[in-house]
Amino acid sequence: MAANKVVVLMAFMAAALSSVSNAAGLQYSFYNSSCPKAEDTVRNVVQGMIRSDPTIGAAFVRLFFHDCFVRGCDASILLDPTANKPETEKTTIPLRGYEAVNKIKDAVEAVCPGVVSCADILAFAARDSTCTLGGFTFHMPSGRLDGFQSIADEVFQGIPSPAFQLQELLDSFAAKGLNAEDLVVLSGAHSFGLTHCNFVTPRLYPTVDPTMNATFATELKKVCPPPRNGGGFISVSNNRVTDPNKLSNQFYKNVASGQVLFTSDQTLMDETPTTGNKTAAMVADNAANPIAWIVRFAGAMVKMGGIEVLTGTGPGEVRKACNVTNNAS
Ligand code: HEM
Ligand SMILES: *[C@@H]1O[C@H](CO)[C@@H](O)[C@H](O)[C@H]1NC(C)=O
Ligand SMILES: *[C@@H]1O[C@H](CO)[C@@H](O)[C@H](O)[C@H]1NC(C)=O
Ligand SMILES: *[C@@H]1O[C@H](CO)[C@@H](O)[C@H](O)[C@H]1NC(C)=O
Ligand SMILES: *[C@@H]1O[C@H](CO)[C@@H](O)[C@H](O)[C@H]1NC(C)=O
Repeated sequence: MAANKVVVLMAFMAAALSSVSNAAGLQYSFYNSSCPKAEDTVRNVVQGMIRSDPTIGAAFVRLFFHDCFVRGCDASILLDPTANKPETEKTTIPLRGYEAVNKIKDAVEAVCPGVVSCADILAFAARDSTCTLGGFTFHMPSGRLDGFQSIADEVFQGIPSPAFQLQELLDSFAAKGLNAEDLVVLSGAHSFGLTHCNFVTPRLYPTVDPTMNATFATELKKVCPPPRNGGGFISVSNNRVTDPNKLSNQFYKNVASGQVLFTSDQTLMDETPTTGNKTAAMVADNAANPIAWIVRFAGAMVKMGGIEVLTGTGPGEVRKACNVTNNAS
């Protein structure tokens, strides 16, 4: 079965991918002569990390999304605050996996110092997590440079809120050149990984959101009590119906049965004046066609990976460590 998936994927993807990569200025196998072991090294380290912590893959995928949606896929999400800049993107929303990315970078630096950008390492790590936990494979173009800036305020302009309604999500994705299908397809990433109860409790208390499945809500309330005494920091799996460490089209079945955590997930079933029931129809189609979703997800990850990238002669650099620019400003 796994082999079939790969074959199907390659057949469908070839044409679509080359145009995406040209448009973004990225290339397949960008490191094939400068660091032929780059992608193998990232994959080996990521697979080892997933073996010891199966939840880490979702963290890399979410880091990639947050990187790309705030001043492009330039590794700005990875920069630590410094004395000169006490606030960066990463000080605004708590994400997992930063230390793990630094470790992948160290492994790549040990093979080819100063060659492979952190933006590409994050893209490869997200791809490899997708493949390892999703059971399929695809090519991720590369050649991104790392940026010099990370601005905390830009996070709130770029990253959509889990309380968003459909039109707000569509606008948020459109601002990054992504369409309704990309929104629906990429939301499938919420078939794995972790959430904190504080993003969920607004839909549970004081009354249960009527769009949430009542049986599901009753169970969820046991995990996420009313938000007090720090209960908002309790972790809950994005996918409470099947394996929470498997990336799959289960998300769409959960949307259709009201068993997703966020308003921004459930609202894909809504209609807007411009899209009608298009996104609801896409949810149904992705729920019914796992292979089609895989192909679409791979394509959308590549498309997201091309957002506002820095390439060629820059501006941009290849960082020595992912959490700090080379002149440490
Ligand atoms: C459509 C708009 C989106 C909204 C509003 C949204 C919101 C969220 C929120 C609130 C969380 C929980 C964070 C926490 O409690 O720590 C989360 C988790 C996650 N999101 Fe999204 N997200 C969106 C789109 C995406 C996209 C496009 C991807 C990637 C393709 C993605 C991948 C993930 C993953 C993998 C997790 C689990 C992270 C972990 O395990 O640490 N999300 N998302
Ligand atoms: C290797 O890289 C060169 C230059 O970037 C490119 O022309 C060539 O097609 C690449 N080869 C493969 C197998 O990807
Ligand atoms: C960058 O991360 C390393 C650990 O990977 C840490 O020792 C160092 O202090 C960090 N740099 C900054 C500027 O926070
Ligand atoms: C609600 O969830 C239960 C499982 O928890 C499922 O059996 C039921 O079909 C769902 N209801 C709807 C309306 O989808
Ligand atoms: C969307 O609307 C069309 C025509 O009005 C209808 O045939 C179809 O079943 C609807 N799909 C969903 C998922 O609601």
